[in-house]
Amino acid sequence: MYRVVKRRQLASAPCIVLLEVEAPAVAAKVEPGQFVIVRMDEQSERIPLTVMDFDREKGTITIVIQDVGYSSAMINSMEEGSYFLDFVGPLGVPSEIENLGTVVCIGGGLGVAPVYPIARALKEAGNKLISVIGARSADILILEEEMAAISDELVIATDDGSKGVKGFVTNGLEQIIAQGTKIDAIWAIGPVVMMRSVANFTRPLGIKTIVSMNPIMVDGTGMCGACRLSVGDETKFACVDGPEFDGHLVDFDLAMKRLSFYKDEEERAKISKDC
Ligand code: FES
Repeated sequence: MYRVVKRRQLASAPCIVLLEVEAPAVAAKVEPGQFVIVRMDEQSERIPLTVMDFDREKGTITIVIQDVGYSSAMINSMEEGSYFLDFVGPLGVPSEIENLGTVVCIGGGLGVAPVYPIARALKEAGNKLISVIGARSADILILEEEMAAISDELVIATDDGSKGVKGFVTNGLEQIIAQGTKIDAIWAIGPVVMMRSVANFTRPLGIKTIVSMNPIMVDGTGMCGACRLSVGDETKFACVDGPEFDGHLVDFDLAMKRLSFYKDEEERAKISKDC
């Protein structure tokens, strides 16, 4: 059993919650970019979640969950002191962290959580770190303080202009490029449509762009086939071969089709729960 030692609500509509969970065996081995599969109890479905943070000394893993259906709503209502039945990991291929020069880490919506440990590791490896984080509006922008603390420069973008640049994270990225900054690599994590926009923007500029295809995973074990991707002329599975891939090679249209397969079931599973 895996105890929740800290719960912090990051936003209320939609409900986004940060949970720090005791999982010493996972914390001992996890690297930025990897994910875990959690299950609250025997009735719950298994959910793959990218790790937001880890503390090897305390033996804890931090995850961030947005309420999108029954299981995520139930997890978000867990209190400190409650337990997960399963907490499996670390899974997936870790991010390739090296000193590349100047890197931009982009997190859109919930994607700020998985990009955080990657950005921190890139900074620790000696890179100049510019971060761009975005959300629909300021009230659902998450982890701003954490990202500011590790970044040499932080750009914020909100769709409604309630904070930072009015527009999408790509507008924030455009602003950085317009300043004449030479970028050596970009990590972009967030909704598939956002990652597609970033990749389309950087392809003609020839800037290496890594994306994380975690959003299309279902069981996270290579068994269900839901995360099958076309990357260049190869077939890959996000949960086994990724979740990170070269964004310029991913067939995002196919990925978005796959993402819509379970829309009806997800709609039916929605429950109303206080955050
Ligand atoms: Fe099922 Fe990858 S999530 S095969």
